[in-house]
Amino acid sequence: MIRFSTAGESHGEALIALISGLPAGVPVDLDFVNRELWRRQQGYGRGGRMKIETDKAHVLSGVRHGKTIGSPIAIEIVNRDWKNWEDKLPVEAGDPAQHQAVASPRPGHADLAGALKYNFPDARYVLERASARESAARVAAGALAKLMLRTLGIEIASHVLRVGRIALDRAATWQEIATLFARDEIILGCVDSATEARMKEEVEEISRTGDTVGGVFEVVAHDVPPGLGTYANWDERLDGQLASAVMSVQAVKAVEIGRGVVAAESFGSQVHDPIHYASEDTAKPTRFTRPQNNAGGIEGGVSNGEDIVVRGYLKPISTLRKPLESVRFDTRQATSASYERSDICVVPAAGVVAEAMVALTIARLAQEKFGGDSALELRRNFDGYIQQIRNY
Ligand SMILES: Cc1cc2nc3c(=O)[nH]c(=O)nc-3n(C[C@H](O)[C@H](O)[C@H](O)COP(=O)(O)O)c2cc1C
Repeated sequence: MIRFSTAGESHGEALIALISGLPAGVPVDLDFVNRELWRRQQGYGRGGRMKIETDKAHVLSGVRHGKTIGSPIAIEIVNRDWKNWEDKLPVEAGDPAQHQAVASPRPGHADLAGALKYNFPDARYVLERASARESAARVAAGALAKLMLRTLGIEIASHVLRVGRIALDRAATWQEIATLFARDEIILGCVDSATEARMKEEVEEISRTGDTVGGVFEVVAHDVPPGLGTYANWDERLDGQLASAVMSVQAVKAVEIGRGVVAAESFGSQVHDPIHYASEDTAKPTRFTRPQNNAGGIEGGVSNGEDIVVRGYLKPISTLRKPLESVRFDTRQATSASYERSDICVVPAAGVVAEAMVALTIARLAQEKFGGDSALELRRNFDGYIQQIRNY
């Protein structure tokens, strides 16, 4: 079974991603992993930290001579800011005078709930782990899942549908999303350059007022075969597992599969995707085709062979340059919320993190369905199943 976890704090020495269960023999392209880390750091409206850090994956185990060996893979991503925090966040007791307390909890963050839960006198340790810095480790693990999925011809990418009040007013094609994925400059991750320019103006305007902004990203998984996930048990449904994975991304507050939100206010005849049958072979494993994909590639918790489409809705960033009202932990006196260096808009970056979560989910389900301890065995089993579908 493919499993992963992360460790590390925002200003600690390093982040760690630990991923196990990948078959042996998956080619590991470190430039691809590092490019994924770079993609997470991009986007107009990011804070100063992105200028200090250029994340690099340091693989400690589980990859030898450019391929996975079936053993757990540990990846370290060093925090380049650690030198400025070594005395403030030492592993040993250190000097209490150096401690950088987060004196008043920031609304919209885990600060207050975390301090109460873990009985901390202030929110420093809460911030350190709840921060989305952790998502860099997810992206590293997700890059390995993507590399495994590539051996099956499955690709995953994202794009931005909305930043604040500015939205893309049409659907994006897979070709456009794939082209965006390959681009060496990421502004706001929108496939339409005129809309992206307006999104940038939106961030500029919001930034001038000291406020922050949220938005919507869409992750698409392309060439996923029918049959991943099942309706047989509630917790094995693909839609439920993807929703949970994407909802776990910091600041995501709603998840939509396909056109789920519009569907809720439409008639059945307008929503459901008709089923056709092609007389000739198609590029897909099955000749059953759909003229549209409102279901987002999932029916009854099972992938149906269309692109899997998952949207994440992000709340505006919680840390405000014009801080909201809060209360001091020590005196209980009213004050302004603490301010830590912060991003203003992270919609494209959150899309990259969500891609990783979608990749890890689909890779786990693919490995469960097709099995195989080596990439060769996985591919052979996969090909056998595709053949079965073709002959259906
Ligand atoms: C890539 C990424 C970067 C983020 N950067 C910041 C940031 O700089 N400042 C901030 O206040 N929140 C940031 N967030 C959001 C917070 O991490 C998140 O809102 C907070 O941890 C509370 O969790 P919740 O919103 O899921 O409840 C970021 C989220 C993502 C996905």
